[in-house]
Amino acid sequence: MTKRAASIAVGEKNASLEMRSGTMGPDVVDVTALYKDTGVFTYDPGFSSTASCESKITYIDGDEGVLLHRGYPIDQLAEQGDFLETCYLLLYGELPSAREKSDFIYRVTRHTMVHEQMSRFYSGFRRDAHPMAVMVGSVGALSAFYHDSTDIADPHQRMVASIRMVAKTPTLAAMAYKYHVGQPFVYPRNDLSYAENFLHMCFAVPCEPYKINPVLARAMDRIFILHADHEQNASTSTVRLAGSSGANPFACVAAGIACLWGPAHGGANEAALNMLTEIGTKDRIPEYIARAKDKNDPFRLMGFGHRVYKNYDPRAKIMQQTCHEVLDELGIKDDPLLEVAMELEQIALHDPYFVEKKLYPNVDFYSGITLKALGFPTTMFTVLFAVARTVGWIAQWKEMIEDPHQRIGRPRQLYTGATLRDYKPVAARG
Ligand code: CMC
Repeated sequence: MTKRAASIAVGEKNASLEMRSGTMGPDVVDVTALYKDTGVFTYDPGFSSTASCESKITYIDGDEGVLLHRGYPIDQLAEQGDFLETCYLLLYGELPSAREKSDFIYRVTRHTMVHEQMSRFYSGFRRDAHPMAVMVGSVGALSAFYHDSTDIADPHQRMVASIRMVAKTPTLAAMAYKYHVGQPFVYPRNDLSYAENFLHMCFAVPCEPYKINPVLARAMDRIFILHADHEQNASTSTVRLAGSSGANPFACVAAGIACLWGPAHGGANEAALNMLTEIGTKDRIPEYIARAKDKNDPFRLMGFGHRVYKNYDPRAKIMQQTCHEVLDELGIKDDPLLEVAMELEQIALHDPYFVEKKLYPNVDFYSGITLKALGFPTTMFTVLFAVARTVGWIAQWKEMIEDPHQRIGRPRQLYTGATLRDYKPVAARG
């Protein structure tokens, strides 16, 4: 940390604000003393220029299209590593040794079952409920099962809660899917890898054996790695804010799932596939490009643009490659959605509107086609994102709880409502 200062003059008052440097990325101006010294707040809706915390987990350089977890590039983790190793890295800060890795896999695997009573929660939901609504409810319900055994001041209990969360969300997600399609729940199998077990819980049925395709399991694992964490995005910030009050971590993750659901965030993979289906054929692309550029039309190209990336999202490149691998393995040739997607991407990448605004494909552009080919209905897409992101949320929550500077999150506001006025009895209101 350097000892440089930034100064700001507000009327007659001058404030000298400390500047801080991280290991990479822009410096920050520490404005915590600004209100005390000058009587003004900063105003930054959407937090475009605000660092809300200090973190050592994930680094993004949006201009260069760089994403690092604990310093390791996402493409190296996705191509050479596996999801549980990535989970270990996010939670503990280092890649595991062979012994640490097998111990971690053992611990996660032994927590995959959920309390039998959980299954009864599901029958309370309508069959046609969106699986994300079911996830918000069922992950939130976990807090009822592990409240007294989760003392967040105890590092051991924090880690047990983290492992439970990583282990149980795939089980709950698969149950949400099974409930949705009206099939019996499938219990986890601890002899399978994390991704294999997830595919098994989703697609196996009691009446015949389910054979796991290793190429598809590898693709599932890679999809999990690509979505594992993304620094202080909306859902992660939600988890941190909820956790800043000392709330139960399972309840905080349920809050993150609620935030992820929106189409501007995790819901974009579902929206992107729906959009590609609606476009349908390559000849209709110009019409949709024109709509995306029309200021009077709320339509946006889903799977395009990002608050932080002003370059190709590095996850999108790997997702595109994974998409091709899955379609090749399944012998899906000339997939019309993929054709529309590739053509749309090329047109948008060369269109001055998208070029000038630096709108590039994001991770969600190709993930929908891949997940559809894997056999998931569109309503499950964001659920899969939530399964993968659980580790990021919980790693960020743990880091926040362990931060000695942690305080309850409490933003201020620019008030533009009515000024002081007197109450009038209803008869006097006219
Ligand atoms: N299609 C057309 N125009 C767009 C798009 C788009 N997808 N995205 C941004 N723009 C335009 C927008 O109209 C605005 O134009 P102007 O400056 O003329 O008003 C400009 O680009 C900047 O947009 P913004 O809304 O101020 O940017 P933002 O940083 O607030 O929004 C975003 C980022 C991801 C919400 C937005 O790009 C978007 O809605 N994209 C589509 C949804 C999507 O794919 N979301 C997934 C994000 S990646 C996965 C995740 O993190 O969950």
